Amino acid sequence: MKVTIHKLFDYLLETTSAEPPECFIGFSLARSPQLKDFLPDLDPDLSLDWNGTSFLGLPALRQRVLDQAGLRLSPDSVLITAGAAEANYLLFRQLLTAGDEIVTEAPGWPQAGVMATAIGARLVEVPRDETQGWELNPEAVARAVTPKTRMIFLTNPNNPTGRLIREADLRALATLADSHGIWLVVDEVYAGLEWAGARPPSIAGLTPFGITTGSVSKALGLQGLRTGWLICQNPQVIRDAMILRENGSEIMNVLGEHIAEVALRPERLAAALAQARKQGAATLDRLETFVAREPRLSWHRPEAGLIGLARVEGTDGESLARALLQPPYRTFLLPGSAYGLPQHVRIGAGGGPEARLEEGLGRLSTLLRSGQI
Ligand SMILES: Cc1ncc(COP(=O)(O)O)c(C=O)c1O
Repeated sequence: MKVTIHKLFDYLLETTSAEPPECFIGFSLARSPQLKDFLPDLDPDLSLDWNGTSFLGLPALRQRVLDQAGLRLSPDSVLITAGAAEANYLLFRQLLTAGDEIVTEAPGWPQAGVMATAIGARLVEVPRDETQGWELNPEAVARAVTPKTRMIFLTNPNNPTGRLIREADLRALATLADSHGIWLVVDEVYAGLEWAGARPPSIAGLTPFGITTGSVSKALGLQGLRTGWLICQNPQVIRDAMILRENGSEIMNVLGEHIAEVALRPERLAAALAQARKQGAATLDRLETFVAREPRLSWHRPEAGLIGLARVEGTDGESLARALLQPPYRTFLLPGSAYGLPQHVRIGAGGGPEARLEEGLGRLSTLLRSGQI
């Protein structure tokens, strides 16, 4: 079946084709570096043919991917992809067939639902508990598994709540996947900016059924490189994904591979994460103070990453988001309806000064207190 649009992309398409907003309270990625930041480390004689070495991706980059995830696996367990989005896409298409069931979290990344519908698989959603800070209960995931389940798809940190699945729960989920022989895909695209404890282990290291997806898009702000990965101990999963990719984008973007390899060098990575942490912690503190002072908003501060969900009183999230986009406010945030949560909005602390967060918050406060909505 044809792939159809989901609410999140529909809203983005609609609102980005209108008058551009002046302020953003919704950026999900750290401030993006510029090309000049990488030029000294790039070889001007680099051939712009494919990497000439491997259809899995540049070997040095695959090693860096494993290193940043703390995984001691073979570099052949990594496939470089056009972002985590393509990595997920390849997995949905190659591992699911019509009639299968896929268990996922709600709220979660809408790609799972879109792809399940297109494939003819049944999406089984396990609710995250808002009263428990959007916790995911692994026992509820286990209860959702049936003989038809082929895959569990989760995000860690969670998009949109920023909640973490901690190591003990990941281990319980890995045991669940092992005992049923089902794929456990964990999208770790938001990893690297953990505020509550250490970065949880990558699922690809915990079980041969674990598949990690990720990219340089979020904590490093390098979304435009379109460079991500999937990691799995099972060579057939890597091969099947590579075969599907050959029929789509064929090979990797060689410039993206080289810049990502530089960005993931340990000293560069540590400096970039330290900077993103400093900025992210400060803007999250600011969001926290803001929400505490707004009687119509409440939230659970994200445990990781730069986005979280706020509950809105007295109106719904979409009415608020749409009114805020209009003059004189001209400020963007994402309605929770993009995640099936009409009473929420997604707010974010990324993007750097260009997002004009402070001004945007002022405008949001004015609107919330205006009696207009
Ligand atoms: C959970 C999740 N997965 C994947 C993606 C896509 O990221 P990438 O730029 O790595 O393709 C996003 C982007 O917002 C995301 O939030």
